[in-house]
Amino acid sequence: MIDTHTHIYLNQFTDDRKEMLDRAQEAGVRELFLPNIDKESIAPLKALADEYAHIYPMMGLHPSHVKADYEEELALVWQELDSDYKYYAVGEIGIDLYWDKSYLKEQQDAFDRQIKKAKAMGLPIVIHCRDAFEETFEVLEANRGDDLRGIFHCFTGNLEQAHQALSLNLKLGIGGVVTFKNGGLDKVVAELKTEDLVLETDAPFLAPKPFRGKRNEPSYVQYVAQKIADLHERPLAEVDQITTANARNIFGI
Ligand code: NI
Repeated sequence: MIDTHTHIYLNQFTDDRKEMLDRAQEAGVRELFLPNIDKESIAPLKALADEYAHIYPMMGLHPSHVKADYEEELALVWQELDSDYKYYAVGEIGIDLYWDKSYLKEQQDAFDRQIKKAKAMGLPIVIHCRDAFEETFEVLEANRGDDLRGIFHCFTGNLEQAHQALSLNLKLGIGGVVTFKNGGLDKVVAELKTEDLVLETDAPFLAPKPFRGKRNEPSYVQYVAQKIADLHERPLAEVDQITTANARNIFGI
């Protein structure tokens, strides 16, 4: 299995990072992809990617961190992407109107420019969208094309939104929310094909059942895979194989 979206460089893992990574390996989670957040996360993210061959870095500015100073933040993202350092995607990028709506224009601009940068570099994008489907799709549609590809991370939309994302050449990142009772995502995922999905945790956030409310970690991606196997009535090994191939294909490893 592959955890396509995990923030294991954050402080929540300071005390047991090595043990946590061992648990992931034991659970069969072979590769981890780390989305960037802002300038503070670049150094710890790169340190982990340098230390472990199975940990892969992405670079981007998270929409919740697009503020008045976003031009400076974007300049750092460009500096990293234009360096010799190998990044596997531009992420996580997108629009988040849950916490703060006051920088919508800036968020749209940062999202659009980062998509165009990814396309110019031949890289996939990893999209974060919270309470902003309409605004996110507006920017994505303006960039629709053969060179647009990537992952709609932590997808929580309805079936129509799922199909729109798929039509934009994106896979859907499914995490712990699919295991939540009354979340409704299970019903949407049941209608989708395994071939359109990738696995993720978004650790340390959004832990799946039976750990809901606790710290999430990459080894828990197995619970997401099992839930998809149940919903699609196919063996866990097949869900593993298909979602792993999808992720490797997107990130080019
Ligand atoms: Ni994230």
